[in-house]
Amino acid sequence: MSSVAGNKIKVSVFGESHGEAIGCVIDGLPAGIKLNMEDIYLQMSRRAPGKDKTATPRLEKDAPKIISGVLNDTTTGAPLAAIIENTNTKSADYSNVLKVPRPSHSDYPAYVKYGGFNDIRGGGHFSGRLTAPLVFAGAVARQYLAQKGIIIGAHIKRIGSVEDLAFDKNSISPELLSSLSEKTFSVIDSSSEEKMRSEIERFRMERNSVGGEIECAAVGIPAGVGGNMFDTVEGTLAQILFGIPAVKGVQFGLGFDFCSSNAKDVNDGYEIKDGRVSLLSNNNGGVAGGITTGAPLVFSVAIKPTPSISLPQRSVNLETMQNEELVINGRHDPCIVPRAVSVVEAVCAIALLDLTL
Ligand SMILES: Cc1cc2nc3c(=O)[nH]c(=O)nc-3n(C[C@H](O)[C@H](O)[C@H](O)COP(=O)(O)O)c2cc1C
Repeated sequence: MSSVAGNKIKVSVFGESHGEAIGCVIDGLPAGIKLNMEDIYLQMSRRAPGKDKTATPRLEKDAPKIISGVLNDTTTGAPLAAIIENTNTKSADYSNVLKVPRPSHSDYPAYVKYGGFNDIRGGGHFSGRLTAPLVFAGAVARQYLAQKGIIIGAHIKRIGSVEDLAFDKNSISPELLSSLSEKTFSVIDSSSEEKMRSEIERFRMERNSVGGEIECAAVGIPAGVGGNMFDTVEGTLAQILFGIPAVKGVQFGLGFDFCSSNAKDVNDGYEIKDGRVSLLSNNNGGVAGGITTGAPLVFSVAIKPTPSISLPQRSVNLETMQNEELVINGRHDPCIVPRAVSVVEAVCAIALLDLTL
């Protein structure tokens, strides 16, 4: 199991959903970054559960306690370590999934890999709760990036069949991204929020769950960041994005829509504007040859429906080796997407910090 990300900076995530605490260590951060703790708390609260019917009712404050690497709200250059306590656990809810694995969750493959020794309570180290330390690390990273003029924001592009407006890939204002990155339910077109909430509620009432898409962008990245082959901006981002549980797809720019397009229509031409090279379109999402073009970085992430639903599902009993119907207890998100927006932004910040340091 590797829970360490990054090359120039290393973010190591530890903990289990129903253990004493979760947290992270960030190694390689420059000294002297002045941290705005209010901004960090804001990002943590955007991801925190228990706020409304679109999220699990498990109430957790998610207040990070910094135990190393910061003095007078400023990074010291020593490893920055933070812990977040688990205060609201109900482990009995997981007694039946010990031997009867949840479809689409990590239970069965993890049972095989770790011989049943892994902590299954609340999903253990596979839980979406482990994204809280990622949001913390991302909140620190984005403050450094903001000082360099790099601003990140994401929104819910789609939940089930309900869509928000998409980013205009070649013209994204820092103000739009900043405002999205403060919202709890981040959408560009505010009229789509109610429709998305109804879609989530419809599936929740059916004891089911629904998936969706998150679109993320970053502006202010100069041309020339990244590398080719195995050092690409896409590869660096994708590796950490796939560390977010429930992420099943990542695409840059037009992504899979390139499959049905032709070069004349989608090539990003150049022009000289105000004495500088500028792109006429941004179908490549700000990256070509693995290296940034200077246009906004634009990518989107597919999030699957929450695996744990309370409808009866087909599974097996690993002890008796018989087929068994599973009814899942416990508190689960009817849709992961709204809470994952801040996580996607955080991962983008961690990857960009690693690429630009
Ligand atoms: C913010 C967040 C919250 C999540 N909440 C739940 C949940 O309540 N119930 C659940 O079964 N899975 C939840 N997940 C997803 C599972 O952790 C994930 O599907 C599982 O570990 C299997 O990994 P995979 O989907 O990447 O294959 C959540 C994921 C995230 C990012």
